[in-house]
Amino acid sequence: MGPANSVKRSQTEIQSFLEKEKEKFVAKLDSPLRQNASLSDFELVRTIGTGSFGRVILVKHRTDSENERIALKVLEKQVIIKMKQIDHTLAEKKILQALSSPFIVKLLYTFKDNSYLYLGLEFVPGGELFAHLRALGRYSEDMARFYSAQIVLAFEYLHHLSVIYRDLKPENLLFGSDGYLKITDFGFAKRVKDRTYTLCGTPEYLAPEIILSRGYNKGVDYWALGVLLYEMTAGYPPFFADQPIQIYEKIVSGRVRFPAQFTVDLKDLLKNLLQVDLTRRYGNLKSGVKDIKEHRWYKDVDFIAVYEKSVEAPFIPKTDKDNYDIYDEQPLQVGTVDRYPKEFMEF
Ligand SMILES: Nc1ncnc2c1ncn2[C@@H]1O[C@H](COP(=O)(O)OP(=O)(O)O)[C@@H](O)[C@H]1O
Ligand SMILES: [Mg+2]
Repeated sequence: MGPANSVKRSQTEIQSFLEKEKEKFVAKLDSPLRQNASLSDFELVRTIGTGSFGRVILVKHRTDSENERIALKVLEKQVIIKMKQIDHTLAEKKILQALSSPFIVKLLYTFKDNSYLYLGLEFVPGGELFAHLRALGRYSEDMARFYSAQIVLAFEYLHHLSVIYRDLKPENLLFGSDGYLKITDFGFAKRVKDRTYTLCGTPEYLAPEIILSRGYNKGVDYWALGVLLYEMTAGYPPFFADQPIQIYEKIVSGRVRFPAQFTVDLKDLLKNLLQVDLTRRYGNLKSGVKDIKEHRWYKDVDFIAVYEKSVEAPFIPKTDKDNYDIYDEQPLQVGTVDRYPKEFMEF
């Protein structure tokens, strides 16, 4: 069999693999994990992340024989209500518990009490890509190729399930002990068959169609992939300014400037991802993610080998040290009454 044939063969295999994954996902989607632990099952170690709706605490399961480390994402009901994020929070749990990918964090425990909602995630020990990238300044194109290939594979999987992610950025990408990435934070993930309109995400990573309040779909994830790829290889994002409004003007302008060191192939791929015209944006066309996987910039990447993690990672994080920043510790204060029993019933 010639190379053309084997490419075709693996294409069909990927298709049938994705079909099976979709059946598994749909079957799990409406049978959520419910209250399979409680806060007292865990020993709290320290806060490793904070966000707008709560914090992420490194915890250890008290009775589990392996003394398993868990990243416990704690969301405060009152804050979720105030910020009108009820639906996003319910979707985060529902979608995450049904997903299964080597490049996506696993949700192991969920529970709630009078004041908080809890998502017990597998702890990813290597720290954020954000911190690593800032420490190195920028990545070589080889390194960026390796990391972005995993995002391409994760998006191929998610989009096949009609899930759009909507929050790609270096803070949400974590290094596993094997040097491969895990995507965390499904707070904006949504199952969308047609299109959606909600303004959400992070200014530097927003696609023009979101800013212009047009209906949008999975194309926004490929725009964000372009922003990430640019940020990894340049060391700074393609559109930045002091004020969000100035960032938005740059994003919708359709102009991007590339640093001198970018190769011709990288620039070509980026022009096709950071493409304002949705009918021309790679990932969003008839052949989907194939246009990206088969782009010249990825010509030496064996995506199946990356999926199987048989490619050597360019960097292996030290896991005997702490790879997460230090935050102010604030004790969790669980109220004596549940003020929102209805709103979070489904959780
Ligand atoms: N599974 C995990 N393992 C280790 N750290 C994590 C994990 N999930 C999240 N974090 C850390 O906590 C931070 C905030 O979590 P995230 O889910 O992104 O919350 P938010 O929705 O508030 O941004 C992340 O940027 C990361 O540093
Ligand atoms: Mg986040």
